[in-house]
Amino acid sequence: MKKIHPSEITPEHVYLSRRSFMKGTGAIALSSLIVAACRGNEIPSPASDLPDETAMPATGASPEATPQTTTLTDEFGDPLNVFEDITQYNNFYEFTTNKNAVADLAKDFITSPWVVQVGGLVNKPATFDLDDIQKKFSQEDRIYRLRCVEGWSMVIPWMGFPLASMLGEVEPLSDAKYVRFETLYDPEQMVGQNDLRYPWPYVEGLRLDEAMNGLTLLATGIYGKPLPPQSGAPVRLVVPWKYGFKSIKSIVKIDLVAEEPTSTWMAVAPQEYGFYANVNPDVPHPRWSQATEQRIRESGRRPTLLFNGYEEEVSYLYQGLDLQENY
Ligand code: MTE
Repeated sequence: MKKIHPSEITPEHVYLSRRSFMKGTGAIALSSLIVAACRGNEIPSPASDLPDETAMPATGASPEATPQTTTLTDEFGDPLNVFEDITQYNNFYEFTTNKNAVADLAKDFITSPWVVQVGGLVNKPATFDLDDIQKKFSQEDRIYRLRCVEGWSMVIPWMGFPLASMLGEVEPLSDAKYVRFETLYDPEQMVGQNDLRYPWPYVEGLRLDEAMNGLTLLATGIYGKPLPPQSGAPVRLVVPWKYGFKSIKSIVKIDLVAEEPTSTWMAVAPQEYGFYANVNPDVPHPRWSQATEQRIRESGRRPTLLFNGYEEEVSYLYQGLDLQENY
């Protein structure tokens, strides 16, 4: 099968298929198919509440309980997950560690007005509001796979723009080597931030060349509609070749920095989470293999691909780097 580059997927392509998507998803309430997946009382992490397979919606369900799928696929020909999959099964610890409860707890989250401050080692620090984001950066549709470190994956039609366009506006200085991202800190709205076992706000980081790669997206929507709160509204990062926890949600601050930022998961469990977090079937998590994954709504497991299938686009970033050591 011809591999279509993810950025070749046009907005029209998504729009044309949206009608069949709407028809399919209207009829089914997915939440009844999904059960809470949290385990025990250890500190939940993107990996310690690994869901068991029965917690996932699978194609083995009865026909009337299986939403129609869209006709859209990723470049490997695999179907998109439907809107309900993407928006009812979430990791967003600022609200809760229960994936099935995020949508409900986040439903009143205020995402407008909103500003993203971009600064640090740049020539022209800037503050972008939502209007600036819509007007300055042309919004594109991108179909990407999302692979969570917990061993599940989805195919998601994002809407957004390359992070590189925003970084271009602020003009990074030559000593800027990394990009550090921060989520909103607002424990009144984000009740999970009262859980003091975690350092808040949520922080993530990329090397500057990773941030400038054409696949790295600031997403503002899914299926052509604005992001719902549980998905990281109004603007989140999407780095499709890295485990999902790198794709930080509800961003308010982006700083260009000289030193490697310490991400939230590096701070919580340094022995389990490194800075790179590239999807790699040959580098097991300390507590389990990463060789396979369960695609949501599929029965059984499929092999996990190096860099989540984006090797052609990103392997140049890691020439000469030991991927076992730099996990
Ligand atoms: N960003 C913030 N601020 N807080 C989070 O808890 N969870 C991460 C990532 N971004 C998280 C976050 C994890 S572990 C994953 S797998 C993805 O978001 C999940 O994105 P989704 O809920 O849209 O599928």
